[in-house]
Amino acid sequence: MHISELTTPAVVVDEPALERNLATMCDAHPGAALRPHVKAHKTSELARRQAARGHRGFTAATVRECVGMAEAGLGEDLLLANEVLDMTRLGAIIEAGARVTVAVDSEAVAQAAVAGGVREVLIDVNVGLPRCGCAPTDAGALAELCRSLELEVRGVMGYEGHLMLVADPADRARQTEECMALLLAAHADVGGDIVSGGGTGTWTTNTWVSELQAGSYALMDTAYAAIPDVPFEQSLTVLATVISVNPGGWAVVDAGLKAFGMDHGNPSIPGADVWFCSDEHTVYSMQDGAPLPAVGERVRMVPAHIDPTCALHERMHLVDADGTVLETWPVDLRGW
Ligand SMILES: Cc1ncc(COP(=O)(O)O)c(C=O)c1O
Repeated sequence: MHISELTTPAVVVDEPALERNLATMCDAHPGAALRPHVKAHKTSELARRQAARGHRGFTAATVRECVGMAEAGLGEDLLLANEVLDMTRLGAIIEAGARVTVAVDSEAVAQAAVAGGVREVLIDVNVGLPRCGCAPTDAGALAELCRSLELEVRGVMGYEGHLMLVADPADRARQTEECMALLLAAHADVGGDIVSGGGTGTWTTNTWVSELQAGSYALMDTAYAAIPDVPFEQSLTVLATVISVNPGGWAVVDAGLKAFGMDHGNPSIPGADVWFCSDEHTVYSMQDGAPLPAVGERVRMVPAHIDPTCALHERMHLVDADGTVLETWPVDLRGW
């Protein structure tokens, strides 16, 4: 099949660009030094490509992502890097042979892990992002509590998510160091082998973690493309069809805000100015006096934020440089 035969809107992944992204990250963080975050793509077949490069452990944000990865045979070492209160489905996959470690930032979550049949935890430490995580000074006591509940404490995690899009590399590096000083102090109190954290934006500035939790690097988006020292390519686009062209100077495609994660802004169209998105439309004009497309032409649009974009689509099509569809992957880790 050729890309021109796909029903639009359709998620299309440029395989050569994807493989270059995987290779670049793998060179910098080989093997267990990278624990790819599957929430970015929610696709076990893409995770299989990451595993083929030697990353056997994965990060997840939902129980569904863990269960789906285990079902796909990729459950060798899963980290649920998020607080969850109903872990019963995790106990079931652990019984069946998956290894699942969960983040814990309170006694209630530790008790939920025990009740759900989870045996291994990381202490989740707040390193500055106002989200989950215990105070660094409480981490040691929480680890003790977990051990008293007969949970194995493998170490700590702390996600510096508020720094990912800090544009100035020197500023990002300085702030990363401050955050990781908190995490390392907590680690000294907690023990264990793992210091987990980081993401695509801190892929070079975070030199303190034992494993980087990057996810977006594989597919990328325009928000990350604005960061100068993040070299990964935008390998995912949303294919759309021009459905109307107005002599007033604009064109309309059939992919709107229901086809894109919009929290980082509108999608982009190379060579065009996007005016706005509505439910099922994006309206745009051409730059530099370029001619408008004809009705029926295909346009490849670049999302501003990859994670919520993937979560909206049932499948992604892997294509080669000439637009041949090589494989179609279900986005099978969606849901909760
Ligand atoms: C806990 C955690 N770790 C890692 C990441 C990966 O970040 P990125 O997709 O920017 O690589 C995220 C993303 O939000 C996250 O929430």
